[in-house]
Order: sequence, then C-alpha cells, then structure tokens
Amino acid sequence: MIRLGGNVSKFQAPKGVSEYFPPNSSQFEYVRDKLLQSAKLAGYSLIELPVFEDTEVFTRGVGESTDVVSKEMYTFEDRGGRSITLRPEGTAGVMRAVIEHNLDRGQLPVKLFYTGPFFRAERPQAGRYRQFYQVGVEAIGYNDPQIDVEVIAIADKAFKSLGLKQYKLNLTSLGDAQSRDSHRKDLVKFIAGLKLDEATIERSKINPLRLFDDKRDEVKSAMSKAPLLLDYLNSESSQHFDEVKRLLQVLKIDYVINPRMVRGLDYYTGTTFEFDHQLLGAQSGIGGGGRYDGLMSSLGGSDVSGIGFGLGVDRILMACLAEDSLPASVNQLDLFIVPITPQSKDFSFQLLSDLRDAGISCDMAYGDRGLKGGMKAADKSGARFGLVIGDDEISSNRCELKLMSSGEEISSSLTASEIINRLGKDK
Ligand code: HAM
Repeated sequence: MIRLGGNVSKFQAPKGVSEYFPPNSSQFEYVRDKLLQSAKLAGYSLIELPVFEDTEVFTRGVGESTDVVSKEMYTFEDRGGRSITLRPEGTAGVMRAVIEHNLDRGQLPVKLFYTGPFFRAERPQAGRYRQFYQVGVEAIGYNDPQIDVEVIAIADKAFKSLGLKQYKLNLTSLGDAQSRDSHRKDLVKFIAGLKLDEATIERSKINPLRLFDDKRDEVKSAMSKAPLLLDYLNSESSQHFDEVKRLLQVLKIDYVINPRMVRGLDYYTGTTFEFDHQLLGAQSGIGGGGRYDGLMSSLGGSDVSGIGFGLGVDRILMACLAEDSLPASVNQLDLFIVPITPQSKDFSFQLLSDLRDAGISCDMAYGDRGLKGGMKAADKSGARFGLVIGDDEISSNRCELKLMSSGEEISSSLTASEIINRLGKDK
C-alpha cells in the first residue's frame, strides 16, 4: 500500500505475484489453452481442486528436505486452529483427492489435468513469482514406459503447438527402490568424507540427492566426483529407462541425459525430466516432472505408481515472447460496430446480440461517441473488422465491413446472416 497523504492510499499487488490484464492477458490465455489442449487430446480429464490443503499433505507428500517445504510454503492456522497451506505444487493434492475419492479403484490409468495458481514464498525475480500458474497432468496406475513417454510428449507437443523451438528436454532416471538404496549407501559414504556445515549435513540425511542441487561453488565442486544414480540402476530400472529413450526416439523427441539433475520435490522415482528454455536466463525451467512410486502410499493410499508434469505458464509465455512465436493477434474480436445516430444505436444493439448468438465475437461503441471516437474505440479493441452504421445504412440495408489491418472495405447487406458470411470468408 502506498500512502498518498491524508487518508487516501493506493494499493499494490503483494510483492512477487504475476498478474495478467488486457490486452496481454489474451496471450496468457492462449498459451494456457494450448497447453491444456495437448493434455485433452491425450485423454486427460479435468480435476479441479482447492488451492489450500492440510499442511501435512505437502510435508509428507513433497518432502521435508526440499526448499519448497522447508522455506517456501505459505502456511497459516485457520479459524479452527488447523494448519493450512496454500498449494506450492499440484501433485500431492491430486493424490490426496485420488485416495479420498477412490479414483484409482476404477479403470487405470487415471489420467487427470489441472490448471491454476500455485504459491511459493521464493525471492521474486524475472520468471520467479510467489503466485504463479501451472498446467499439470498426472497419469496414475501403471508403471509403463509408454505412459512416461506419453506424458513427456504432451508437453513437447504443447510447446511445438506454441511455435517454440529453443528448448531442451533433460532426462534421467532415479531408478526403483533397490537401485536407489544401493546408490544411497555409496553416496552417504561419499558425503561423509566431505566438509559440510551442519544444516547441509542434516538436509543430506533426509535426502542425500539434494546435494547435487546445491548452488554453492564449493559444494558443486565437491559433488563433481560423487557417485551417480544412473550408474546404479538394476536391470529392471535400466530396461525401463532404455525403453523410455527408445520411445522418445520413435516419436522424434530430442533429449539430453542429465544424470545430475535433481528435481525440487522429494517424491520422484524412475524417469524424471525437465524442459529448459534457452532464452530465459536464470529461471529457464519451463516445466518438469517424473514418476513417483511411493507417493500414493506415503499419503495413505494404495501402492500404485504414477507420473506427471507441471508446466509453468508464466515462463512459457515469456519463452513465446522471447521467440516471437505467438500469432500476431490472439483471441481477436471478429467485429466492432460503431453506431453514429440514435436510431442506429438501437439497431446495432440488436445486431450485436444476433451476431453473438451466432458465435461471432463482437462489441460496439457505447455512449455517444460519434464517428471519430467510435473508430478510435474500434481500433483499440483490436477487432478484425469495423462496421459503421448510420441512418443511411439502415434505410439502404447496405454496409461496408472495414478490414482494420488494411482499410479494405467489403460490401454487405446489413443483415446478420450476410455479415456472418462475409466475416467467415475473410477469416
Ligand atoms: P516443479 O518443477 O516444482 O514441479 O514446477 C513445475 C514448473 O512450474 C517449473 O518448471 C516452472 O516452470 C514453474 N514454476 C515453479 N516455481 C515457479 C515460480 N516460483 N515462479 C514461476 N514459475 C514457477 C512441480 O510442481 C511438480 N508438481 C510437477 C509434477 C507433476 N511432477 C509430477 N507430476
């Protein structure tokens, strides 16, 4: 809040949140819808969940060694004294709902998508927000390499449908429990030989893999010689991972193997992946995900595996803008009507309603703005066509549809049906 003097104050949005308003909000909407469309094409159905959950859903689900749980959650006590947390991510909440509503008792896999705001109390910077938007999918019920690749392909197809080119898929496998156990033994021995501060040692006790993600130079260089989980995959995990790689090649999805990649959440097992965009600087992760074998059971559900991703809508929009990949006008209004007399105002209002009934997106100049003011409004609306209606147009039942981009005029009778025809031909 900014004090302006006296009792007047001007509010500002809380620090570090992303906001979208016209005209650019249509680009955000376009990007989000393309991401959702890719999930729908693959047979995923909407799951709409609360933005807050019992805090334990996240402490148990996401893991206490993670920054997300230990430093970034918006946690508060509600009026009934319960500990509530604004969702920092989507997967744990989806599992809570799957278990609560027995969604995994029917046909498997359960394929779900979601979108909405997520909350992490991070240090804000370009591309890193305290409220941000994700589109996510989860496929629960089978541990099948084809599903791993389906999930990755949904993200890849979505990026391609947005015209993105400069992104990279990083891939690794965290293997099954046996592979992770044998790696963990050697990793813990290795870490015991390093000189680390108390907090880092404590963190590594919960999840030693976290140290691969440490940004400090001294830890990075110490970890450069650490044993890598990929070298410890047993034959079953190796076979699964080989099949994932083969199927990615079949679908012509490029990837790089990144054995040091550590996701920011503790529930991952098996195939894990992250998409980076090359023009986004420090916050280059535009989406990521992976398989989670133990998550359902750790939240009290049955022992079934799942895989999913979360795509960062804010960052993907930034990537599209950086690559200039969005169409010149998205979600554009078809027509803007400018009435210039009292009689044509009434006529236009009815025509507007008829056109909207027929699925034409249109608006008109309200108030008495005259020709000049009305055309200015038409310009600002970004509509494809402008249409001036005065008494002459009404008495002759003829009008000119003006293509706003070129000024070209197309003659039409002043009836909804012919106008619809003319607009359609020029789409
Ligand atoms: P995540 O990697 O933590 O995964 O987040 C997914 C994506 O959300 C990131 O790649 C990034 O694009 C975006 N994102 C995360 N934090 C921020 C932020 N502070 N500001 C802007 N964008 C952000 C998950 O959330 C997992 N639930 C994904 C998943 C689903 N794994 C399995 N199923």
